[in-house]
Amino acid sequence: MSKKVLLSGIQSSGKAHIGNYFGAMKQFVDLSETYDCFIMIADYHALHSLQNPKEMKENIINLLLDYLAVELDPKKVVLFKQSDISEHTELTWIFDTIVTMPYLMRAHAFKDAEAKNKEIDVGTFNYPVLMATDILLYSPDVVPVGADQKQHVEISRDIAEKFNRIYGETFKIPEVLIMKEVAVVPGTDGRKMSKSYGNTIPLFAEYEEIKKCVMSIVTDSSGERPENVYAIHKLLRPESELKKIYEKKAGKYKELKELLIEDLEKFIAPMRERRKNFEKDIKGALAILAEGGERAKKVASAKMAEVREKIGVNVY
Ligand code: TYM
Repeated sequence: MSKKVLLSGIQSSGKAHIGNYFGAMKQFVDLSETYDCFIMIADYHALHSLQNPKEMKENIINLLLDYLAVELDPKKVVLFKQSDISEHTELTWIFDTIVTMPYLMRAHAFKDAEAKNKEIDVGTFNYPVLMATDILLYSPDVVPVGADQKQHVEISRDIAEKFNRIYGETFKIPEVLIMKEVAVVPGTDGRKMSKSYGNTIPLFAEYEEIKKCVMSIVTDSSGERPENVYAIHKLLRPESELKKIYEKKAGKYKELKELLIEDLEKFIAPMRERRKNFEKDIKGALAILAEGGERAKKVASAKMAEVREKIGVNVY
């Protein structure tokens, strides 16, 4: 029996952080044994926030190295770049003709931008549709993501169902996969860890940077336990162990932060070293990405041929 299919991706819009790792990347690695995996560098998604070709290239390569350093094995996983597969943008247009504006106006990202009175580009408005094509072209059974992406996967399900209703059974309806304990990894200020809040701990931080991030964790002096420190710490140690330590060191915030620094360093150091090794052979890493692109293209173009047939443009 063939394996079930998993698809997911990350925007190449800056440094990966431990929220990306625990919320998403770790699942990619853990599940790569049991699923056929497609893991994407979502570079076209990054275009909203990045209009600098040099940085764009750097970010793509950085995310590729990150994927390799967390031990995504290219033998088990198809690692590819969104912009290598033109079917993503082609299918987006077709979906655009069946998705309504009021429907997309309910998306969180749009509402947030609107609440801030931002002038929104069409790409930002349409973002969930591009993400739906990212997913549906590969017929995945599951899409592992953090909680912030849940609505986007739900939108992809709605779009698949609508297309299937209009044109006949074409797309598999994907399931979102969110690990409860890491659905929202908090940042150094207790809010969701996010590049846009400036509250991240970079996944490949050097020791000094780890120290700086941990020392900046906002602590609340009202309780015995510094909750923001604890919330990050429990990603690294079992809670049964951690609770005892925090009870023993009740009120000793500095010592607890020092322990967190050590635990983060132990966790990050091997990945950081692996990443440095991959950095020595960028060409080799890019060859892996190009090869993954060829494999992804085969799957996407077969699905696209089916779509063209279904909508009636295939007249030859
Ligand atoms: P992105 O690049 O913002 O984030 C990548 C993944 O990391 C998860 N994540 C978190 N999980 C838990 N706690 C956090 N603090 C945290 N911060 C980020 C995100 O939920 C996500 O799973 N649009 C997507 C990328 C994308 C994609 C796709 C994902 C493009 N096409 C197709 C799945 C399928 C994004 O911007 O994620």
